[in-house]
Amino acid sequence: MSKKILVLAGDGIGPEIVAEAIKVLDALQAEGAIDVTMEEALVGGAAYDDCGDPLPAATLEAAKASDAVLLGAVGGPKWEPLHFSKRPERGLLGLRAGLGLFANLRPAFLYPQLADASTLKSEVVSGLDIMIVRELTGGIYFGEPRGVETLESGERYGYNTLCYKESEVKRICRVAYDIAMKRGKRVCSVDKANVLEVTEMWREVAIETAADYPEIELSHMYVDNASMQLVRAPKQFDVMVTTNMFGDILSDCAAMLTGSIGMLPSASLNAEGQGMYEPIHGSAPDIAGRGIANPLATILSVAMMLRYSLDAGEAADRIEAAVSKVLDQGLRTGDIMSEGMRQVGTAEMGDAVVAALRA
Ligand code: NAI
Ligand code: MG
Repeated sequence: MSKKILVLAGDGIGPEIVAEAIKVLDALQAEGAIDVTMEEALVGGAAYDDCGDPLPAATLEAAKASDAVLLGAVGGPKWEPLHFSKRPERGLLGLRAGLGLFANLRPAFLYPQLADASTLKSEVVSGLDIMIVRELTGGIYFGEPRGVETLESGERYGYNTLCYKESEVKRICRVAYDIAMKRGKRVCSVDKANVLEVTEMWREVAIETAADYPEIELSHMYVDNASMQLVRAPKQFDVMVTTNMFGDILSDCAAMLTGSIGMLPSASLNAEGQGMYEPIHGSAPDIAGRGIANPLATILSVAMMLRYSLDAGEAADRIEAAVSKVLDQGLRTGDIMSEGMRQVGTAEMGDAVVAALRA
């Protein structure tokens, strides 16, 4: 049966990069490798301009009715003066909450062809391939109570609460272990069990849950050490699983090891396997409308979508191989350009991926 994809191009470079991702989906569809129907809707600043709401009810309904959502990016200086509740970014948060997307998959990989792009030595990062699994709907970003009060002394007192239910830890660990089973079967659970009771429980639950996965090699690391190890010797990691806040920080750190923000996809999944897929970068207002943005992060997000939500792992592998081939051909957008390579625009890069896919 045909799977439904909701396409949310968003703002800035969003429409430009999403157009290239759609070319790739169309090419796979034309040859019968996948069976999808695509529908478009408004989100972010584009939706605000249309109806005063960054996440119109119709968009959320359409997202709920789809198997997967492909998102470009939202936001830009035009909407910065708006109240927080109207900002384009609210659209994203609303989609995450509305779809119950509790598992954020943030791969950090570096195609060997781009090893020069990193600020780290190429032998440290070349061929890097880490998957960070971040809990996305719990932890200190959502815990109650929270707030800032003024004490009797007149001093301000601010607080947030780090809390997890056992079930929340279990389900995110399961996602990590399931993914690791399809990769190197090694998972490092990152916590601060020496200081925070919640994460001591996190570690216990991680161990208990792993009993169902005898083939998984589970290790544990305190978050401070994990951040050091990510920069010192990142290739020691396969899958990492961690809390919302630790994952927020570690995944951005891991992304920067690769030095190419225009190359990295992401996925956010719910319990039903429904997912939202988007590049990790933003709407890049500084280069929007010029046809020079790198569409590869979005194209690789499509690969993740096919693998994790649409049961089309073979097509996903082919997209990743096509991207690698295009890099072998020496094609580069401005953000990953280096000496001796051929600089191309957004559309030319998308066309090259489609050609490589067909070859
Ligand atoms: P950004 O990721 O949009 O841009 C950072 C730098 O990277 C810019 O110099 C940009 O030109 C470059 N860049 C990003 N993606 C690129 C691509 N595909 N190809 C070539 N170069 C690329 O982050 P920034 O500038 O902090 O935020 C811009 C807007 O995007 C803000 O309104 C922000 O709120 C929003 N944003 C949205 C996100 C989302 O939709 N998930 C995530 C991050 C930021
Ligand atoms: Mg972040």
